[in-house]
Amino acid sequence: MDTVTKPRTPALTSRLPQVGTTIFTVMSALATEHRAVNLGQGFPDFGCDPALLDAVDAAMRAGHNQYPPMTGVPALREAMASKVEKLYGRRYDPNSEITVTAGATQAILTAILAIVHPGDEVVVLEPCYDSYVPNIELAGGTVVRVPLKPGSFRPDFDAIAAAITPRTRAILVNSPHNPSGMCWTDAEMRQLDDLLAPTDVLLISDEVYEHMVFDGQLHHSAARYPGLAARAFIVSSFGKTYHVTGWKVGTVLAPAPLMAEFRKVHQFNVFTVNTPMQHALAAYMANPAPYLDLPAFYQRKRDLFRDGLAGTRFKLLPGEGTYFQCVDISALAVPERDLPEADFCRWLTQEIGVAAIPLSAFYGNGFDQKVIRFCFAKKDETLGEALKRLSRL
Ligand SMILES: Cc1ncc(COP(=O)(O)O)c(C=O)c1O
Repeated sequence: MDTVTKPRTPALTSRLPQVGTTIFTVMSALATEHRAVNLGQGFPDFGCDPALLDAVDAAMRAGHNQYPPMTGVPALREAMASKVEKLYGRRYDPNSEITVTAGATQAILTAILAIVHPGDEVVVLEPCYDSYVPNIELAGGTVVRVPLKPGSFRPDFDAIAAAITPRTRAILVNSPHNPSGMCWTDAEMRQLDDLLAPTDVLLISDEVYEHMVFDGQLHHSAARYPGLAARAFIVSSFGKTYHVTGWKVGTVLAPAPLMAEFRKVHQFNVFTVNTPMQHALAAYMANPAPYLDLPAFYQRKRDLFRDGLAGTRFKLLPGEGTYFQCVDISALAVPERDLPEADFCRWLTQEIGVAAIPLSAFYGNGFDQKVIRFCFAKKDETLGEALKRLSRL
């Protein structure tokens, strides 16, 4: 008699056993289910400049639809080089020091895979963006978590210095900072420079919110500091700057020897990034107004949102940059204020009709400080509706 063997999917040992569905997905699904205003996940609910769409159309019709060079369309690398030189005073060579990536997410993963060997330590400052830790783990690195100062989210240089050992390969820094909205000062960047100067520690500087810095402040890019730039991968995202997060196009800048290693991994990871968007972005960047005007554009939204919350019992944390506003919930007049942040956010979505993200989601140990994050990259009507609902609290 024939034995019928059932098709069988082999079992896996997970490379990332800790990773489950992210809070962003959970909260967005809950927001849809309860028709809540979604101020959780960080993306605009408004469109981009139609001129940018026209530029994509023109690029496609001009026949820019096949593989571009592995490092990115030359015109886009050149446009980035000029922008960075004008804004931050450092000239990166478009041929050997700039690569176009599939968003900042790929840039960060590729940089980590290029530099981290199994057993190397990588310092992350918590709370931090959710891809950093799994990226380090995929590379076989050891994650060393250093908290930003609770309350202010400023870097704690004593703690960072204590975390650096002879095994430290890199430190990841994010300014303007998601989720807190905090921006590193010139003095803090200098302090980082001094701290790293005697070491071989590399810097991954996640600057995706570089054009969202408010109240007349400057963005202190690592590119401005020769000591930091010499050891840094600097990561940017067109998605954030031009309201096109779904395009997933970004760049990484690094000194030529670091970039050479980056490109070895990039080549066999994505090889290259979609062509027409790169041509469109290169043409669109000829006009600096869209990124120069971005601080005022988002500052107005930040002020609208903050003014709206000022009459509630939410305690506003400083909002120096990014399109996020954090609030402390501990003085609210409802008993749910005593819930863990994540449960509070579920309640807020289901009962009040506004989705937010708990800060505990950005810590490895789920540190709960009664702070939640709202995204204000939304139409004024969306923010108005959210404020109306939140004014009950
Ligand atoms: C701090 C930070 N880094 C990186 C990214 C990813 O950027 P991209 O969409 O260009 O991959 C995000 C997106 O939310 C972010 O907040």
